[in-house]
Amino acid sequence: MNKVTAAITGVHGWVPPYILDNKELETMVDTTDEWISTRTGIKERRILKGEGQGTSVMAAEAVKGLLEKTGVKPDEIDGVIVATSTPDMLFPSTANLVCDKIGIKNAYSFDMAAACSGFLYAIEVGANFIRSGGSKKVIVIGADKMSSVMDYTDRATCILFGDGAGAVLLEPNTEGYGLQDAILKSDGEGKDLLRVKGHGSIEPVTPEKLMKKDHFFYQEGKAVFRFAVTRMADAAAEIMERNNLKGDDIAYLVPHQANKRIIEATANRMGIGMDKVTMNIERYGNTTGATIPLCLWEWEKDFKKGDNLVMAAFGGGFTWGATYLTWAY
Ligand code: UT7
Repeated sequence: MNKVTAAITGVHGWVPPYILDNKELETMVDTTDEWISTRTGIKERRILKGEGQGTSVMAAEAVKGLLEKTGVKPDEIDGVIVATSTPDMLFPSTANLVCDKIGIKNAYSFDMAAACSGFLYAIEVGANFIRSGGSKKVIVIGADKMSSVMDYTDRATCILFGDGAGAVLLEPNTEGYGLQDAILKSDGEGKDLLRVKGHGSIEPVTPEKLMKKDHFFYQEGKAVFRFAVTRMADAAAEIMERNNLKGDDIAYLVPHQANKRIIEATANRMGIGMDKVTMNIERYGNTTGATIPLCLWEWEKDFKKGDNLVMAAFGGGFTWGATYLTWAY
């Protein structure tokens, strides 16, 4: 029998309708469209508005579209994994809540936290459920409501992030398509440079703690940039080297969308032109766990069966990595 690989057989995304553009941010903090565009590449981002609207709302919309498109019924799903840093609540998991919204009743479901690298971690875990033979249909979601942890008086961070969700369906493949190799790394040296400290067991929320703003996203941008730009490119280059891939062999780099300059440096290191890079940072900003599946969704029409794709990410922790896959349809 042929070896079983795990392949993406469908992808869908969802972003909220409200657009927060750089012009509106100019009225909120001391910034300019010019500064944001040249330093990051971001022009606008989507924001999920409304009481009681959490990450699971966006994730469920992405899954609804995915099931419609692939013709798969909720009771056929074996597992749902959500990569998120902004779960609806500490527990139950956002994955549980998504299953409830969709009517998925026969599946295991859980969240994974690896910040901006979360989708790469989650898809590898999902793929292993398929490779083991234990699961036939696994949904892997990257979803974040970053607006829920933004301090909209802090110009250094609030201009960077947006909300969104993307979901892929993983199924077994016996023709060799799908996920081929992954490099996943982490190093706690970044713990003080990029974090949301105030929602966990170290800093239980009290009125005094709220005043310290520890429940907001915190980043030392310049320091993080230095790590991100080298480690994301290193991981992408390493996965190419160990799979004997040259720039010409790569159809697309699908990178995490934190900063246009980091993406360009990664493409450069891989020896590929920007025409082979999926980039929507201009329209969505950094949606953390959702950036890569949102790119897969928007570029799905351009991918061809057999295309070699490299997905690469870097995020809080630090966590980072690269995944090599061949497109299956
Ligand atoms: O996705 C997770 C991983 N995260 C990343 O990969 C993000 C990595 N870091 C970055 O992308 C960049 O560091 C940022 C986009 C966050 C910042 O860009 P930078 O070129 O590193 O700028 P900086 O933080 O060094 O700030 C330069 C100047 C400072 O002013 P002074 O000290 O030179 O007078 C800031 O106060 O720009 C100022 N500044 C702003 N000015 C206008 C910071 N934010 C803004 C702003 N508008 N929004």
